[in-house]
Amino acid sequence: MAQRRPASEPDAIDEAARILAAGGLVAFPTETVYGLGADATNASAVARLYAAKGRPAFNPLIAHVDGRSAAHALARFDAAADKLAAAFWPGPLTLVLPKGAGCPVAELATAGLDTIAVRVPAHPIAQALIARLGRPVVAPSANRSGHVSPTTADHVLADLADRIDLVLDGGPSPVGVESTILASLGGEVALLRPGGLPREAVERALGRAVSTANEAPGAPDDEAPLAPGMLASHYAPRAALRLDAREIRPGEALLAFGPELPPGAALAASVLNLSARGDTVEAAANLFSHLRALDRDGAHSIAVMPIPREGLGEAINDRLARAAAPRR
Ligand code: TXA
Ligand code: MG
Repeated sequence: MAQRRPASEPDAIDEAARILAAGGLVAFPTETVYGLGADATNASAVARLYAAKGRPAFNPLIAHVDGRSAAHALARFDAAADKLAAAFWPGPLTLVLPKGAGCPVAELATAGLDTIAVRVPAHPIAQALIARLGRPVVAPSANRSGHVSPTTADHVLADLADRIDLVLDGGPSPVGVESTILASLGGEVALLRPGGLPREAVERALGRAVSTANEAPGAPDDEAPLAPGMLASHYAPRAALRLDAREIRPGEALLAFGPELPPGAALAASVLNLSARGDTVEAAANLFSHLRALDRDGAHSIAVMPIPREGLGEAINDRLARAAAPRR
């Protein structure tokens, strides 16, 4: 059984770093979602991590480091990558770059690719843990493969209690959706996954538009997507999701957005509002915990009100579309 410790306890970070150094698995908060960490340089720890999540080994992991100089030891940065790192690290941005020559990250963690995903998380607990270990930490979202990402220690335990060594509890993750993934390869910057850093901020920093490289959710060709974890049916709750709902059907639960509820809302099996004031930042922070809560209530179907696509709305709509996609 996983031990759970408030990250604020005096020796909690030390113990977590010791467990990682010994090849164990530690879940920890980041500003986006909780990650399941392993020592990135330890191939058997990485193998244990894939097994704990039930994650296919063709799906590579993000290497987390505590700053830009540590990131330069893993990957080759071009001018655009340097600009993005300077503007947004630490923060909810992952860069996919050519793997550096002396990169110490285990081959398994990058699934045999010649690229590597690197991120510098902003959360102080993540920062402290990585600094204490003194090595890169691979950390996928701390959920079983295919489930909704966790934004609290409770979510982590619900999925992984019997498969990991420790959860550092640092309260809810403030951003609530995973990092934005950008690839900077061969002079092109492409958006592989919309996430906690809005596209608009990226385009402002670069002074140009970025292309969208990942397949549309549900697209037939997601056998080999660019961010291999972005399969259409990822992030699936048990209940069916009905998107852009403008009325509620009998027996449905309602995932609302904004001050005005649609017709039939009073009869909904249960109602949670992502943001009663219609704020996409607040909605992102609530998205995964509200989905988990409505799913736990046992509704067969969750009606989801329309959510604007600007700012964090792009990531929210992406995750909802994946949660609504047919299961495989
Ligand atoms: O916010 C986040 O990014 C969280 C926290 C814990 O940092 N982590 C996270 O990891 O979401 P994960 O493993 O759930 O999602 C990482 C995504 C996957 O879709 C994976 O396929 C993609 O990043 N990825 C990793 N390495 C890649 C690479 N070299 N090229 C393309 N995509 C890559
Ligand atoms: Mg994930």
